Amino acid sequence: MNSVERLLEEHRQMERQLEELEMSMSEDEEPLNVSHITNVFRKLHNLWNEHEKKEEDFFIRLKNEGASLPFEKVLFEHQELRGHKKVLNDAINSGSDIRIMVALDTDGRMLINKLRKHIEDEEESILNNSLNINQIKNLSR
Ligand SMILES: [Fe+2]
Ligand SMILES: [Fe+2]
Repeated sequence: MNSVERLLEEHRQMERQLEELEMSMSEDEEPLNVSHITNVFRKLHNLWNEHEKKEEDFFIRLKNEGASLPFEKVLFEHQELRGHKKVLNDAINSGSDIRIMVALDTDGRMLINKLRKHIEDEEESILNNSLNINQIKNLSR
């Protein structure tokens, strides 16, 4: 698998956790299964931290090769998403169910929507960027 394929595969893995998180937060799930939600969030958190590092590195390489990518936007969004991620992570680590529920309902929902949109935009810019696909493949080795 080259770098692009790996990044896309990681997006799919994160989307599966987002889906799971959203389902476990839905209103039919009363009372909330906090320990399940905690596990799902931790999985997402780990996938994401790994992914973000690799991705920023990859985008820098693409940019240095002359690709026109909305690099500032990606970095800005990573920072914004880190904020929501931190609120949720802190709530989960506090062990307080009330705090977790409040965080899920605010930052949790924002995070799900923003991360989905971020992934979508990122894939669009990777696939539409001005660098030709062979250059990307060479870079990916
Ligand atoms: Fe990203
Ligand atoms: Fe990404």
